[in-house]
Amino acid sequence: MWRRCDNNLIPIDKRLRWCINAAHDETAQMFFKYLLGRFVGTWILLVSMWSFNWTTPEAPSEQPETWPLRELPLKVAAARAGIDIGVAARASEFVNDATYATFITSQFSMVVAENAMKFQALHPHPVTYRFDRADAFVDRARAAGLKVRGHTLIWYGGAKWVREGEWDDQPGALEQAMLDHVTTVVGHFRGRVCCWDVVNEAISGYWGLRRNVWTKHIGQDFIAKAFRAAHEADPDAKLFYNDFRVEGLRPKADRLVNLISTLQAEGVPIHGVGLQAHMHFSLPSRDELIAQLDRLAALGVEIHLTEVDLGIPKPVTNGKRIKQAIRYRRLVDACLAVPACTAIVFWGTDDSRSWIPYFYKNFAEPLPFDADLRPKLPYYAILDGLLAGRRLP
Ligand code: XIL
Repeated sequence: MWRRCDNNLIPIDKRLRWCINAAHDETAQMFFKYLLGRFVGTWILLVSMWSFNWTTPEAPSEQPETWPLRELPLKVAAARAGIDIGVAARASEFVNDATYATFITSQFSMVVAENAMKFQALHPHPVTYRFDRADAFVDRARAAGLKVRGHTLIWYGGAKWVREGEWDDQPGALEQAMLDHVTTVVGHFRGRVCCWDVVNEAISGYWGLRRNVWTKHIGQDFIAKAFRAAHEADPDAKLFYNDFRVEGLRPKADRLVNLISTLQAEGVPIHGVGLQAHMHFSLPSRDELIAQLDRLAALGVEIHLTEVDLGIPKPVTNGKRIKQAIRYRRLVDACLAVPACTAIVFWGTDDSRSWIPYFYKNFAEPLPFDADLRPKLPYYAILDGLLAGRRLP
């Protein structure tokens, strides 16, 4: 069963049933191995954990047996559902590697530079801007008809010179530098970038905003100031606030809702919220996700799922692969249940180009395509979800 499931020479539709059976077997085997080695108290714990495993789908659509195993470009299915499907790309590869570029332009309707449009890349010294690489990336994408998300204007670190500057001695200088950055960058790409992550990851995991160089030298309203400057530089660009672990109903998600409504009350031009959605197996249920999307939609903002991935905790097993695909499916279903959710963007084209294995050594295989750019199980789950279309209440 296992070998047949992993045999890439057999088409995935022929293999799926074996994979599902292997996954069931594997869960059972792990369970009994555990039982053999543990005391009664642990058994009880395990029984309760086991009853809470992936075999309890939240909806009929979460049963892999029902997914049609055909291949269709994701962007075709996404267009039918009325949303954009995007990906974070390596800018230089996208410009120079025809196979990589063709893969992206055939599967996706939106693209974002994984790193090439960040502060350090565009503005490496106080008076130096470098637009050559990003320009080539943006122009290549637009020539292929892709929308470009701009990521990201103000992040906590900015650039080395921002973090290490002697700002205490120069009142107002950092604010000036920030406004100059936002105005110059947004102005440079005016009309070419559909949407900007104006501020990224400003909310603390514990309370209020993160303490960083911007809050220290400009104050908490650096966010409002950055949005106002961006709007002035390109009044047609959609301006997003982007953050992570705000997809469910945790306190940080509440703080996100508060931040957005406070900015709106102050008349700040903010049009969208990016939920990064770097998923974990423990991440919110479909209903919790929908509840958070609904809360944001009620504020009148557009929502993009901006950095979607899900690293499988090692060791990778077929059971976990199926669980991963179900999680992806759940995310698509949640987005399609809320009209304000208009884009799903994966953080990386494929497993060999993902940040996850480098930053989180114990996680692997996070994306819907493998290192050879071939579709994996999550791809079929996503495709099936997109083809099911919007299911509005
Ligand atoms: C990551 C990139 O993927 C890495 O290549 C880079 O070394 C660090 O940044 N949240 C974000 C993204 O908003 O910009 C981050 O991207 C991942 C976490």
